[in-house]
Amino acid sequence: MTLRPLPSSVAILHLSRFSSGDLLTDRRYEYGRAYAEAGDSAAAADLFLQALDRAPGWLPALVGAADALAAAGRPDDAEPLLRQAMALDRDGLFGTALRLAAIGRAPVPPAPPEAYVRGLFDDYADRFETALVDDLGYRAPWLIADLLDKARPGAVFAHGLDLGCGTGLMAEALKGRVTHFAGCDLSPEMVVRATAARRYQTVAVADAATFLSERTQILDLVTAADVLVYVGALGDLFRLVAARLAPGGLFAFSVEEAAEGNLVLRDSLRYAHGEPYVRGALTEAGLAVIGLERATLRHDRGAPIRGLVVVAAPAP
Ligand SMILES: C[S@@+](CC[C@H](N)C(=O)[O-])C[C@H]1O[C@@H](n2cnc3c(N)ncnc32)[C@H](O)[C@@H]1O
Repeated sequence: MTLRPLPSSVAILHLSRFSSGDLLTDRRYEYGRAYAEAGDSAAAADLFLQALDRAPGWLPALVGAADALAAAGRPDDAEPLLRQAMALDRDGLFGTALRLAAIGRAPVPPAPPEAYVRGLFDDYADRFETALVDDLGYRAPWLIADLLDKARPGAVFAHGLDLGCGTGLMAEALKGRVTHFAGCDLSPEMVVRATAARRYQTVAVADAATFLSERTQILDLVTAADVLVYVGALGDLFRLVAARLAPGGLFAFSVEEAAEGNLVLRDSLRYAHGEPYVRGALTEAGLAVIGLERATLRHDRGAPIRGLVVVAAPAP
């Protein structure tokens, strides 16, 4: 079988670590995943369903089959599989509730389950930089750094915090411009890489909102590159950022832009935000926009992902 997967973002967990315990079932599953990544949803669904025949109730195959059926335009067949999976996916690792919402069969939750995001990036960590930067043309950290430079030309920030720091690309883009840069990220595997790369003075495994609420340090800069797509509703986080920013401090971030609607859950299981929603959440948090640009953040399956790059500061 020759398959050439199109570069795509993180939506499907690479679930090889969850063996079914049966070699043939695992093999069907892996072929299914290869077809899904190559965009042949019908063939993928067929293989995932074969895996399910051999291992009824095996979560990776249930979710794989549901995703493939949904992608093949068969949400009615995907829904019962996702409902079955949801009953088994107790901590949300497989994002079944999100998947159900993404096919329009459940309300959009305000945030994804932590276990889902952590699992996704723990899984993705070892190929994150090559997959994202080399294959998908990921540019968010550099776009944020450029906009910060326009807002405060030549500024060096004394205390910075990078929310959802991942492996540390934001610190790389701001090299020499933050004296003490701390990072936090939900994924231990991403944090291992950020620590090894020595891109921050300190890095912690922590949820962004929890980290901000437990710290008293006043910050001159807070960044969040391609993170809010996994946060969902922004009000609470923005208020926590505002509470920690120094009077002249800056908050710089990117979001995927929703052309219509405020908070949209995409097929990619990432949230997109409308500009009025972003502006409204900033205003409610006491922050004012001082720079906003539209840009292509990266590509997904060959298509540009349009986003907003924003710099905000405490409102006067
Ligand atoms: C697409 S990566 C971006 C990483 C980094 N900011 C960059 O630009 O390379 C998203 C990162 O956000 C982290 N993340 C998502 N939600 C988070 C949250 N609520 N708190 C902390 N980290 C989070 C993920 O674990 C992941 O490492």
